[in-house]
Amino acid sequence: MSATVLVTGGAGFIGSHTCVELLEHGYGVVVVDDHSNSSPRALERVAKIAGRPVTAAYGIDVRDRRALSAVFDAHAFDAVIHFAAKKAVGESVELPVEYYDTNVGGTTALLSAMREHGVHRLVFSSSCSVYGDAAAVPLTEEDPAAPTNPYATTKWLCEQVLADTCRRLPDMSVLALRYFNPVGAHSSGLLGEDPRGVPDNLMPVLAQVAVGRLPGLRVFGDDYPTADGTGVRDYIHVRDVADGHRVALEHLGDERGMRTFNLGTGVGTSVLELVAAFTHACGRPIPYEITARRPGDVAALVADPGAVARAWNWATTRDLAAMCRDAWEFQELNPSGYPD
Ligand SMILES: NC(=O)c1ccc[n+]([C@@H]2O[C@H](COP(=O)([O-])OP(=O)(O)OC[C@H]3O[C@@H](n4cnc5c(N)ncnc54)[C@H](O)[C@@H]3O)[C@@H](O)[C@H]2O)c1
Repeated sequence: MSATVLVTGGAGFIGSHTCVELLEHGYGVVVVDDHSNSSPRALERVAKIAGRPVTAAYGIDVRDRRALSAVFDAHAFDAVIHFAAKKAVGESVELPVEYYDTNVGGTTALLSAMREHGVHRLVFSSSCSVYGDAAAVPLTEEDPAAPTNPYATTKWLCEQVLADTCRRLPDMSVLALRYFNPVGAHSSGLLGEDPRGVPDNLMPVLAQVAVGRLPGLRVFGDDYPTADGTGVRDYIHVRDVADGHRVALEHLGDERGMRTFNLGTGVGTSVLELVAAFTHACGRPIPYEITARRPGDVAALVADPGAVARAWNWATTRDLAAMCRDAWEFQELNPSGYPD
C-alpha cells in the first residue's frame, strides 16, 4: 500500500506544487487548509496535472484541535508536511499576535494530534528569514539565528518547539527546511502563486504589475550594502522546493531527532536584477519606484546549499529564467488568479 501524507496548507503556493509532486510519485495525499490564503480551486488543478485527486481535503483551521483529531482518526498517516502558516513579513509587524497564534499555535496543535495518534515523522516549513540581518552570505545551517520580524521569530520558535519535542520523544523524526525565496509556477500554467489581497512577495507583485492588476512596483530601499543597493535574495523554483519535500520524505528517519537544512540555489539576485529578468520573460515594461526600506527587511539572504547536497545528493535544477517564465505563464493564463 502507498504511504499517505498529511499536507497542511496543501492548497497554498508551495503546498499545491508539493501535492502534485507527491501524487505523481504514488503517495496518497490528505490536505488540511482553511483557505485563509488560498483557493480550493488549486486542488482541482492539482488533480488535473497529476491525473488523480488528493484522497481528501478538509477546509479546517489547524488550530481546531477537535477537527484536526478527527482527520487523524480518519486516516493512517505515515508522515506530515506542515506548510500551513501566515507568511507576510510586513503584516506580521502589524499583527504579531495573529502570527504567533497561527504559526506557533498551529504547530503545537499539530504536534499534539501527531503524538495522540502515534505519527512521528514531520517535514516543517521553516524560512531563511530566521537568519536575520546576516553579516555575510552564503549562509550555512550553523550560522546563528537572529530573526528581525515577528514572522521570522515564529519560524525560529517553531524550530525550538520541534527540537524540544524530539529531545523528549525519541521516536520523532523531523526535518525543518529553511526555504530561501520560492517563486515560479507549474510549467502547465495551471498552478501558481495566487495570494489573497495585495501580495507581499516580489515575484507575484511583478506578475500582477505585468498583467495590469497592480499599477507599479515599489522597491523598498536602494541603499543596502549590495552591488546595486537593492535587497539580494536566493530565488528557488517552487517545483524544486516541491521536489525537495518528496526527497525529504524519503530521508525522514535517516536519523532520529531533528535536522535543519537550507533549501536554496546558492545564487543571489537583487530586486533590480529580478525586475530585469521578469521584464525579459513577460516582454512588457514593469514600472517601479524606489521607496524607503520596509521594516524587518534585510540586505542579503543567500543559501549555502551544501549540507542538503551532501546528505541527500540533491540539488535544484531550474534557473532564474525558468522561474520568471513559469510565473509569467501562470499569471498570463490566469490574470485574476484562480476563478472564485
Ligand atoms: N513563499 C515563501 O516565500 C516562503 C519562504 C519561506 C518559508 N515559507 C513557508 O512555507 C509555507 C508555505 O508557504 P506558501 O508560500 O505556500 O504560503 P501560502 O499562504 O500560499 O500557503 C499557506 C497555506 O496555509 C493555509 N493556512 C494558513 N493558516 C492556516 C490555518 N490556521 N489552518 C489551516 N490552513 C492555514 C493558507 O490558506 C494557505 O493555503 C509557510 O509555512 C511559509 O511560512 C514560505
